[in-house]
Amino acid sequence: MRSAPFPYILAADGTAAVKATPPPGGQFIDLSLNESSYGASPRAIAAATARCADPARYPDPASTDLREALGRVHDLDPARIVCGNGSEDLLDIIGRIYARPGDEILFTEHGFAQFRLIATRLGATPVTAAEHHLTAQVEALLAAVTERTKILYLANPNNPTGTYLPTPELRRLHAGLPQSVLLVIDAAYAEYVGASDYDSGLTLARDNSAKNIVVTHTFSKAYGLAAFRVGWAYAPAGAIGAMNLVRAIGNLNAIAQAAALAALDDPGFVARTCEHTAGERTRLTAALTSLGIAVPNGRTNFLLAGFPDAGAAHRHLARDGIVTRPVADHGLPTYLRLTIGLPAENDAVIASLRSFMV
Ligand SMILES: Cc1ncc(COP(=O)(O)O)c(C=O)c1O
Repeated sequence: MRSAPFPYILAADGTAAVKATPPPGGQFIDLSLNESSYGASPRAIAAATARCADPARYPDPASTDLREALGRVHDLDPARIVCGNGSEDLLDIIGRIYARPGDEILFTEHGFAQFRLIATRLGATPVTAAEHHLTAQVEALLAAVTERTKILYLANPNNPTGTYLPTPELRRLHAGLPQSVLLVIDAAYAEYVGASDYDSGLTLARDNSAKNIVVTHTFSKAYGLAAFRVGWAYAPAGAIGAMNLVRAIGNLNAIAQAAALAALDDPGFVARTCEHTAGERTRLTAALTSLGIAVPNGRTNFLLAGFPDAGAAHRHLARDGIVTRPVADHGLPTYLRLTIGLPAENDAVIASLRSFMV
């Protein structure tokens, strides 16, 4: 018998993770990956640059300084924080710890693409629950739970819909779940929401009696550090031990640790990023809506734009040097997802779509 990868691993579709490349000799505006258009704190960049001067030394494998700083900033026990190579690393590790072939992994109809990928790569069964108005529905999620459900992944707010479950709904979801199901709240876009009825899930998770909640966060979005790949999770004590056993020992490199630590020290930068993003989101939404383009109400650094022929809109924008993300793979064939850019970039989007819609 020849050695061979498990067939279910080969069935996983990793094509979603594509970084756009500029046309030969040309410029383009990349709005395809929900990156921050406002960059990173100068303090983070300086700290990363300084750490580059000593490349021969390994990073702290426990990310101690960063976990302690996160504990102070978010009022959390650092012992219950684990850092990862982006939050995708942690979402993946959680899957590997809690699910195996035959188990079910639950997420919503238009849930973040990585959830399906995690399930498929584990040989577990992906199960989806219907959304309502592009928003997660507590009843549908609870109705989809079976005795084989091991994990419920909820991106809150979700990518690509941009919608979120308000805190009372999140509480209702958790209260209705059996303790045997781990609720993983992926709060990658938490900083952008800015609504009084929103909590990233940390309030729920801080409660020691909640032994089945993990909340993940990232420095890739509002902190503008996507290149360095820094994520963190707050998890019950029992899960933290297992996550630390499964993760690669040096999963967060020293430059990334230094950058994230310094970024935490500059909350004003993140606040300004979120303020500018929200202002541009409102402006872009109004402009696209006035062109007859459907824009569902999201609270993140991207938005969905609906077209009778999203493929034609995608090609038209691309001809004008603007790269957006079709989201048919998320069950949304009539939409494009686009990052909220800088004001001039958003002006270019509006101008391009104005000529498309005539
Ligand atoms: C909902 C959601 N979760 C997690 C991630 C992964 O982020 P990272 O691995 O950069 O922390 C993304 C990235 O786009 C996302 O949209």
